[in-house]
Amino acid sequence: MTKPPVGGNRSGRKLGQKVKKGKLKASSRRWIERHINDPYVQRAQLEGYRARAAFKLLEIDEKHKILNGTRRIIDLGAAPGSWSQIAAKVTNSTDGDPRVAAIDFLEMDPLPGVRILQMDFLDPQAPEKLMEAIGGTPDLVISDMAAPTTGHRQTDHFRTMHLCEVAAHFAVDVLAEGGHFLAKTFQGGTERDLLNMLKQNFRQVIHIKPASSRAESVEMFLLAKGFKGRRVTDTDEPMEDEAAD
Ligand SMILES: C[S@@+](CC[C@H](N)C(=O)[O-])C[C@H]1O[C@@H](n2cnc3c(N)ncnc32)[C@H](O)[C@@H]1O
Repeated sequence: MTKPPVGGNRSGRKLGQKVKKGKLKASSRRWIERHINDPYVQRAQLEGYRARAAFKLLEIDEKHKILNGTRRIIDLGAAPGSWSQIAAKVTNSTDGDPRVAAIDFLEMDPLPGVRILQMDFLDPQAPEKLMEAIGGTPDLVISDMAAPTTGHRQTDHFRTMHLCEVAAHFAVDVLAEGGHFLAKTFQGGTERDLLNMLKQNFRQVIHIKPASSRAESVEMFLLAKGFKGRRVTDTDEPMEDEAAD
């Protein structure tokens, strides 16, 4: 069970540590302090995950059961690779029979059972390359993509929302019937058109804010469960969902 870490010193490191004032800018010092004192960071190190993001996926799965029985997973914006680690484990993926394809424009260290593409997901060739890499129909598409920050909040917001939208259309193009799509989005940011498209194509559409997602962050996740298959047309009525959007 994915319990939020308490106390946080299971890794032997104390929480509440301060970084000495020196040449670091105050904002950098605050970032380092927050990082070393974050119980999820400590727990990720202890459990061998490459990033604290692992707990967001595990927490979402605990409640919404999207990983169990999954055979093939595509991981968008995968570096450094904690979601891919989980994906490889649940699909029993091996290098001989790879069942996970991951993409990031950043370099990512190899992971057993994961076919890694270092390229921009917005590159028109990315969908085809991902499908070649996975060698079969995925039943789960996960996206933790966030656009690199420019310092301009609205631009950053818009770019990440665009990634979410492109990922959603990709999921609808490639998923197996009954499959699921999970993507990072922003509070209040999911476009109505995108939500409608997802509601037409999936049985349930939900917004989620996992406890492991920092409270001060506007990050949220959009989960679309139970892909209806590619025969659905635009004229179909959207299904009711349990989302409070
Ligand atoms: C929050 S991190 C992902 C963490 C990952 N889920 C994990 O568990 O380790 C977001 C990633 O999205 C990637 N990204 C953002 N835009 C992208 C794009 N257009 N194409 C590919 N990767 C992208 C970034 O490079 C970054 O590594």
